[in-house]
Amino acid sequence: MFVNDCLNVNEKGHLTIGGCDTLDLAKEYGTPLYVLDENVIKETCRSYVNSFKKFYDGNGMPLYASKALSCKELCRIAKDENIGLDVVSGGEIYTALQAGFPMEKVHFHGNNKTADEIKFAIESKVGKFVVDNLYELELLDKIAGDMGKKVNISFRIKPGVDAHTHNFIRTGQIDSKFGFALETGEAFEAAKEALKLNNVTLNELHCHIGSQIFDIDPFVTAAEIMMDFIAKIQKELNVTISELNLGGGFGIMYTSKDEPVPYENYMEKVSVAVKAKSAEYGLPVPFIYIEPGRSIVGEAGITLYTVGGKKEIPNVRTYVSIDGGMTDNIRYALYQSDYTVLNAGKADKEANETVTIAGKCCESGDLIQEHTKIAEVEVGDTLAVLSTGAYNYSMASNYNRIPRPAMVMVKDGKSRVIIKRESYEDLVKNDI
Ligand SMILES: Cc1ncc(COP(=O)(O)O)c(C=O)c1O
Repeated sequence: MFVNDCLNVNEKGHLTIGGCDTLDLAKEYGTPLYVLDENVIKETCRSYVNSFKKFYDGNGMPLYASKALSCKELCRIAKDENIGLDVVSGGEIYTALQAGFPMEKVHFHGNNKTADEIKFAIESKVGKFVVDNLYELELLDKIAGDMGKKVNISFRIKPGVDAHTHNFIRTGQIDSKFGFALETGEAFEAAKEALKLNNVTLNELHCHIGSQIFDIDPFVTAAEIMMDFIAKIQKELNVTISELNLGGGFGIMYTSKDEPVPYENYMEKVSVAVKAKSAEYGLPVPFIYIEPGRSIVGEAGITLYTVGGKKEIPNVRTYVSIDGGMTDNIRYALYQSDYTVLNAGKADKEANETVTIAGKCCESGDLIQEHTKIAEVEVGDTLAVLSTGAYNYSMASNYNRIPRPAMVMVKDGKSRVIIKRESYEDLVKNDI
């Protein structure tokens, strides 16, 4: 019935998550409210770790892409599950530090790391810098040298595989703001440059081919292309790249149209391809990293809202207004993302009404979903938007000076706040 494993319906016909009645959660903590199921997050982390054990002799590690949802509790979970972190800013590094995360397991990404962020990352003993361009390479080498340090680096490579849709294409696509292009020779020249520098050690290559991908073949193709490049570097520069980072992008279910493959199928196929290429070139089998973000937290999360108004426009549509919107979930406004919306108190009833869910911001495009089917809605109802664990809170804003919602973690029928609701004082705390 639902698109999501952590959800159920209780005897009152109410939607439950992690064994908690969503109407009780809304009453206790207020709305809008982000809710995350701890068991689902941990099980997903374990399925990735186990897939390395099962298909790759444990010779790899998932890094949680914290851009999907960066907060101290998620860092603590990643630490407990023995996985690493992918961070893209000083703020995400700071969050990891505050959570006591082992910094050697942190990989620092981004296409414009500032000098301050680089210094902060070196001071914080971040394990790897995923270098995006030559300016960054020089800057990093200089700052590391000034600080008397030598840092491990990876290069972000554009492997020329575009997998943003259900089908993938090998485009040789070089129009991306991220990374070094392979086919123009840019990546190879960058590797040569890195070897001339004293304060960086190039021991990894990285690629990330897109997001919300359901097909495993593009990942396999990208892995093969990267192995070919590792072999070229070995042969022509006599340098062994011992680690390969294949990025994230594993698709999740937002609606019943989405059909994610079990995550372990990914390692099953990719490991065969990487081992075959290692044998072909006589190279050591590399240590592999992957960077799942959305797939670790996405389906584990829902957002609860209260309906404050309903506007029927004859022969046009019916708007249902909720107490949140683009400030807590900008993904429909940004790229028309599909979501499943349920009337949480009528989760056992048929979805017989077609409505457009509108947020409360002063913006006509502030919609969560258009023309969506839902069990008949009345003012005061609690609505649940499913699969909102990733790229919702992390993309939230204070537009219209709306405070960010609280986030609650649920597990086995119990709930606890992991991020407090912002107050009005929070909103003005930096105003002078
Ligand atoms: C370099 C890199 N790694 C990992 C991810 C995480 O992707 P996803 O959340 O789709 O798994 C992203 C997302 O943009 C990314 O850019």
